Amino acid sequence: MTTALITGSTAGIGAAFARQLAADGHNLVLVARDTKRLREQATELHDRHGIEAEVLTADLASDDGIDLVADRLADRRNPVDLLVNNAGFGNKGRFLDVSMADELKMLKVHCEAVLRLTAAATGGMRERGRGGVVNVASVAAFVPRGTYGASKAWVVQFTQGAARDLAGSGVRLMALCPGFVRTEFHQRAGMGTDNIPGWMWLDADKLVAAALDDLARGKSLSVPDPRYKVLMGLVKVTPRGLLGGVTSRTGRKYGPQ
Ligand SMILES: NC(=O)c1ccc[n+]([C@@H]2O[C@H](COP(=O)([O-])OP(=O)(O)OC[C@H]3O[C@@H](n4cnc5c(N)ncnc54)[C@H](OP(=O)(O)O)[C@@H]3O)[C@@H](O)[C@H]2O)c1
Repeated sequence: MTTALITGSTAGIGAAFARQLAADGHNLVLVARDTKRLREQATELHDRHGIEAEVLTADLASDDGIDLVADRLADRRNPVDLLVNNAGFGNKGRFLDVSMADELKMLKVHCEAVLRLTAAATGGMRERGRGGVVNVASVAAFVPRGTYGASKAWVVQFTQGAARDLAGSGVRLMALCPGFVRTEFHQRAGMGTDNIPGWMWLDADKLVAAALDDLARGKSLSVPDPRYKVLMGLVKVTPRGLLGGVTSRTGRKYGPQ
């Protein structure tokens, strides 16, 4: 039986990864900040699928939290075969409306934690000659979208570069770029969603199934829906100034500060 560690496992896309991987018979290490919610999730997945589910309470915006998860990933006696770096969030507001502390927190969770956890996991994976890492980025990586888009662009560049560096080692790395997915993300960030057209919303379970297929196929970048594949094709040929205006109007509506 193999083991998968998922950060941000208790809601949205991370919870969909946990459901799918448990159904496929993987043991799980579940990571988030809310211990009660983690324990309930572990019990439910154990009871439903007969898998073992460990719980790690960690805030990936803190050094201690990153250390804790990195130590678990580097434990050679209890190897982790698949790492899903999924934990993430949006800040409420545009540049200069968001505090510097919150901007830096985003870089810590989206970039530093992803870097350190990927390194902690892939050392042992390379020795064993097998393993996988999915780093959850966003289609926002490809459009001008403040610190959020910039941090996700880093995830894409880092992941594809590391995938190339580890090619032939048996370790696969893939950046996953979802479009809009119905999760707790927008509500937590205080973002309105009524200006996002219905056809742009993706289902988390379908997204995860397509992402795991792409990982199995050896892709280093996954944009797992035909609608967004077309949109990303258009993004490549659209002037960046125009792109910034369109994406800003669609996906960045914030409530009162
Ligand atoms: N939803 C979308 O439209 C969308 C689109 C593209 C990309 N994404 C990306 O997909 C990933 C998952 O987002 P989601 O939409 O599933 O969000 P979500 O429903 O809000 O879930 C976020 C998960 O991350 C955990 N988390 C948040 N901050 C954390 C921290 N500091 N340390 C540890 N865990 C933390 C949360 O649990 P706790 O609060 O208990 O810690 C929760 O389990 C993110 O990286 C996001 O940027 C989302």
